[in-house]
Amino acid sequence: MSRFASILSQLSIPAYPRRSLSVGCGAFLEYGDLGAFRPDWLHLGLDQDRVVLRKRLPVIVAEAPYFPFACLFALVIVRHPELDKTPENWRIIFDHLPPLIAPGGFLLITTYTYAEYQVVIDYISRPAYPLDLVALAPPDLVGSDRYVLAFKAFPKFY
Ligand SMILES: C[S@@+](CC[C@H](N)C(=O)[O-])C[C@H]1O[C@@H](n2cnc3c(N)ncnc32)[C@H](O)[C@@H]1O
Repeated sequence: MSRFASILSQLSIPAYPRRSLSVGCGAFLEYGDLGAFRPDWLHLGLDQDRVVLRKRLPVIVAEAPYFPFACLFALVIVRHPELDKTPENWRIIFDHLPPLIAPGGFLLITTYTYAEYQVVIDYISRPAYPLDLVALAPPDLVGSDRYVLAFKAFPKFY
């Protein structure tokens, strides 16, 4: 099991709505793990870079935070944002994510570095969901998903 899959397995994600959204999905490498985790859901990627269209996965090209959705998602993922390159860009994006998350749903953020992890904690000043970090699969050689933060939606989100 990949580290990302082991993270998913610890989240008590609601059964509805059967949709996840990966913001800044890039090559949408987590698509396979998401499909294995919830095979009957729509797992949608969003990225500003048209290169994502090459892989024929369910992705849309749009620039966050201008999200073209009139629906909620049970899981919103931000995997490896480039917080060091464009910190203000990501601060604005994080501010706009909560209204996309269904009640009881999750916001999941992973980073390669501890510095980026700290930036996320500064951005989202609310208690993180308690994950059993010791039980997670280890990171791969490039350190994918090394640092993990999950936040469960609650009324204050809205
Ligand atoms: C470091 S890559 C991570 C890609 C992928 N999530 C992964 O884990 O490999 C960050 C991605 O965020 C996208 N991105 C940055 N700012 C964005 C924005 N405002 N709206 C949509 N995508 C954005 C970039 O195009 C890039 O594909």
